[in-house]
Amino acid sequence: MQKITMLGTGYVGLVTGACLADFGNRVICVDTDADKVEALKLGKLPFYEFSLGEVVTRNVAEGRLSFTTDLPGAIRASKVIFIAVGTPTGEGGEADLAQVFSAARTIAANMNGYKLVVQKSTVPVGTGERVLRTIEGLLKRKKLPFDVASNPEFLREGSAVEDFMRPDRVVIGTWSKKAEAILSEVYRPLYLSETPMVKTSVQTAELIKYASNAFLATKISFINEMANLCEVLGADVKTVAKGMGLDKRIGPKFLHAGPGYGGSCFPKDTMALAIFAREAGMPSRIVEATIEVNREQRLRMMATIQALVPRLRGSTIAVLGLSFKPMTDDIRDSVGIDLVRMLRARGAKVRTFDPVAMERAAVELPKTIYFAKDSYDAAKGADGLVIATEWNEFRMLDLGKLRRLLGRPVVIDTRNIYDPIVLTAEGFRHEGVGRGRRVPARAGDKVKPAARPARNAAASKTPKAAARVRRAGTAS
Ligand code: UDX
Repeated sequence: MQKITMLGTGYVGLVTGACLADFGNRVICVDTDADKVEALKLGKLPFYEFSLGEVVTRNVAEGRLSFTTDLPGAIRASKVIFIAVGTPTGEGGEADLAQVFSAARTIAANMNGYKLVVQKSTVPVGTGERVLRTIEGLLKRKKLPFDVASNPEFLREGSAVEDFMRPDRVVIGTWSKKAEAILSEVYRPLYLSETPMVKTSVQTAELIKYASNAFLATKISFINEMANLCEVLGADVKTVAKGMGLDKRIGPKFLHAGPGYGGSCFPKDTMALAIFAREAGMPSRIVEATIEVNREQRLRMMATIQALVPRLRGSTIAVLGLSFKPMTDDIRDSVGIDLVRMLRARGAKVRTFDPVAMERAAVELPKTIYFAKDSYDAAKGADGLVIATEWNEFRMLDLGKLRRLLGRPVVIDTRNIYDPIVLTAEGFRHEGVGRGRRVPARAGDKVKPAARPARNAAASKTPKAAARVRRAGTAS
């Protein structure tokens, strides 16, 4: 059991604090917002996260988890101090570390014995060292012992508690055996259950986090590019992803084509990585391309809506889903929110529904938006329906009822949750992402095959000419 103080009760801080208490540690969570702290003491969470409420309530009741605004007191009371404060995106796209260094200064000012300062929020590589220098600088000649560590989180919103309790790995970045031993003790239950532990230096741990998120984001941008290619070539991206994903070296996860990634992590982390890689003189062309593809994918969704509802001005569009993904009320960098804004900017009226994110969305969106009671209410009289988030309840809509309610039977399924064949059979005009399914016309068919856009010189020629080009290519 370790005595732990968690600085920050945002998403990462609260999940980590509550789960570490559940492991048997004694955890004090600190936040400067007194109202938030009071609410937390009563078991009221500042955001929705599946099963987190239970973990908080249980650990508060059993005396392992507490909340306070008394930052100096909480620092003095614990040996292990986790920094889980916000690291918003700065003006130039870089991570704004003001809160991290403010936390480091407060720790230095309240040292009353050995402290292990663990960086939990995602910070650019090198921040651990800067935190170490900051604290050292403030302590001057007072030789108070402390260590700095990096322990990145890999929590997905909506399944964060499960991700914490049963992680694929725990990454522990330290520069001393003592720090490593303390963090191993903090995670003892995971140790005992043989969760892989990656013990390494602070810089390596910091980079593992960015590299992991950037890789997952790259997988998404890659499959989105393939989806766009599928649309041109008449292939189906879902099956392409399945065919790829069955290769164990590739794996099936994070290969769902859609409107591009959003949320609080991928957009921010890919951008920060691109910036600090450039600053280090080693630009990451892959990550930069991932960001660009993602930006364009969202605009592409808007273009798809426009293709199906050409006169947007004065039209009404129903948007289902405002959270950036299901099982959360987080609307940061959400496709649904972006699409609502773009639709409004083009003069469309918007009716929208989300199972949990409407309250948050109402604060951000213009007053002219209609927040519906349910999906069917949103669809009433609309000239098109856009599925922006794949909430389970959107997967099982009564399509007949939907078609009758809509002013025009138009569906834009940005999450590919409906089978295009079923939508056609139900009488919808529809578009998904990468759901081409061209069957070549055969000799004797009445309908001529649709013209295929030229891909390259070989593709635009007759088969014989293409073969000649290929042979020439081989010979040279
Ligand atoms: C992510 C990481 O998964 C987690 O490890 C990290 O620490 C925090 O960031 P989160 O942002 O909660 O978690 O959501 P995630 O499930 O990873 O999805 C991120 C975005 O990618 C969402 O917008 C989602 O819709 C999108 N996505 C995900 C796809 O478009 N396709 C996929 O195949 C998977």
